[in-house]
Amino acid sequence: MAAPRMRGDGRRAKNAKGTLARLISLLFTYYKKEVFVVLACIIVVALVGVAPAVYIQTIASYIEQGVAMAKGGIPGPEAYAAIAPAILKSLALMAGVYLIGLVASFTSTRLGAVITQGFLNKLRQRMFGSMQSLPIRYFDTHNRGDIMSHYTNDIDTIRQLISQSIPTVFQAGLTLIALVAVMLYFSVWMTLVVFCAVLLMLFVTRFVGGNSAKYFVRQQQSLGREEGFIEEMMNGQKVVKVFCHEAASQADFDRLNNQLCSDATRANIFANTLMPIMGNIGNIFYVLVAFVGALLIAFEAPDVSLHALFGIELSMLTIVVTFLGMTKQFVNNVSQVSQQINFVVMALAGAERVFELMDETPETDDGYVTLVNACVAEDGSVSECAERTGHWAWKHPHEDGSVTYTPLTGDVRMVKVDFGYVPEKIVLHDVTLYAEPGQKVAFVGATGAGKTTITNLINRFYDIADGKIRYDGININKIRKADLRRSLGIVLQDTNLFTGTVMENIRYGKLDATDEECIAAAKLANAHDFITRLPDGYQTALTANGANLSQGQRQLLSIARAAVADPPVMILDEATSSIDTRTEAIVQRGMDSLMHGRTVFVIAHRLSTVRNSDVIMVLEQGRIIERGDHEKLIAEHGKYYQLYTGAFELE
Ligand SMILES: Nc1ncnc2c1ncn2[C@@H]1O[C@H](COP(=O)(O)OP(=O)(O)O)[C@@H](O)[C@H]1O
Ligand SMILES: [Mg+2]
Repeated sequence: MAAPRMRGDGRRAKNAKGTLARLISLLFTYYKKEVFVVLACIIVVALVGVAPAVYIQTIASYIEQGVAMAKGGIPGPEAYAAIAPAILKSLALMAGVYLIGLVASFTSTRLGAVITQGFLNKLRQRMFGSMQSLPIRYFDTHNRGDIMSHYTNDIDTIRQLISQSIPTVFQAGLTLIALVAVMLYFSVWMTLVVFCAVLLMLFVTRFVGGNSAKYFVRQQQSLGREEGFIEEMMNGQKVVKVFCHEAASQADFDRLNNQLCSDATRANIFANTLMPIMGNIGNIFYVLVAFVGALLIAFEAPDVSLHALFGIELSMLTIVVTFLGMTKQFVNNVSQVSQQINFVVMALAGAERVFELMDETPETDDGYVTLVNACVAEDGSVSECAERTGHWAWKHPHEDGSVTYTPLTGDVRMVKVDFGYVPEKIVLHDVTLYAEPGQKVAFVGATGAGKTTITNLINRFYDIADGKIRYDGININKIRKADLRRSLGIVLQDTNLFTGTVMENIRYGKLDATDEECIAAAKLANAHDFITRLPDGYQTALTANGANLSQGQRQLLSIARAAVADPPVMILDEATSSIDTRTEAIVQRGMDSLMHGRTVFVIAHRLSTVRNSDVIMVLEQGRIIERGDHEKLIAEHGKYYQLYTGAFELE
């Protein structure tokens, strides 16, 4: 079975700090104001979180006052009346503080959701934008599953980071700072005890959490592989069934699934043990703080804390009670931060991959020659005009500021072209060919001879290693790619239809085509008959890549799509290979009338299709070994002759 594809390579971020910095600065670029509002709200929430710690001290002091009054013989109701207004006031104050906290946390969560989703939206938009700008070569060397996972898995880890991890760490960090300040105010000795707890917790987090992050990243990797496998099996269901491969695929799947299970289990065992361990360390220190507090009270130890500097007297009991509350809170916040570590590690690895996709070098385009609508004056001079005239010209600006217009005629020449998809393996050797305007040029040759490669070079999916390609006398490197491709009507060997109606798919060739133009193109491609027999005619919805059509019907649609663009140059790569000979003959006649006066490159393995071409090039292992029209090649008694007479079978 094919090795399952790797999706997201499961490594940690190479440059975690840089990635985080970039993520945050990008966040600020898009949502500066909003982020500040959220941060301000989080600060408020954190401060409100510390309030109870201080509040408990006030309550304790009231109790002490009450006890003192009772000892002094003041009757209960009177004592109550004396303290009640103060108690009510501080209760009201507390309620007010909590209300503010509530508003702040409401605002920060709502705004947080808006920022997170908006930011992800922008990231996906940028990823898609840069993905579309990438050269075909990128898609040759990266598999779809990998690219897809940047939009799904990786984006999701970033969501987690922005919506949860960063706010949690920020809020918990602030709370901790505030708590430390309050603790120092109350008692330096007891603060030291709490610090010991923190040190122990950090140590445990490093030990347990460090491992856990490793397994979380592996879990992502396994998940990606499993998803890739499922996708591949869905695409290949027919092959799986035909070769009765169900049991073998199941076994492959089980292996991947078990790996995912084991990685996920390990990741979660570590993560799940972290919380109880933290909780228990917290409990132990709760007791220890109480114990140290009791000792301090018992021995009436002097305390050198901040409150003493302010000249404020606090009883040791008040201090210990306050501290117990703060210890709990402190430990909770530290364990919240430690819990986020796994997510941060995963998210940074994911974000790095997202940025890698965004940073891929886009397809370069140094072209400055553009295609414009041309008006031909009586004297034959060509100028630019705004409306579609049916004539085109290359607008060629020169260094001295002058502009020349060259009529688009479809004259294509290749001179001594060498090319290889990878430098180590040259696919085309010294290819020289020319197609004069209106000529029909055919390529024949065995599978893998390099026929499709030649067309890939004409439309500049790839750039040549050596040699020259000229289009109407202009080096094609000087022509802007979009304009070059606009001048070419291409029917690719692999048909690709998009989700949408039949009409929309034909209109893909020319976005402003009217329904009538689309139907005319369909008639030309001989697709009209079968389309009208579809349940909803031209409005029939096509599912993924036209799965509800036959292969031949798909080809007819892609020919119609190219025909509606009405291009000056047509490239047909095995365009009629799945169409029966009778239909092909009809399509051919339609095409011939469309292509009258235009340059056509045809690749076909049915030699009857190429027979009436002006020039036939016979390719063998990337070299043109014979050229000429049908009669000449037959007379030469070479390879073409052998192919034609059946002495040598093609493909
Ligand atoms: N994207 C690619 N990356 C690397 N090699 C390729 C690629 N496409 C085609 N090739 C190689 O280039 C050679 C010519 O292929 P192609 O032009 O598609 O042949 P055909 O004549 O059947 O259309 C083959 O040996 C093939 O293995
Ligand atoms: Mg091919």
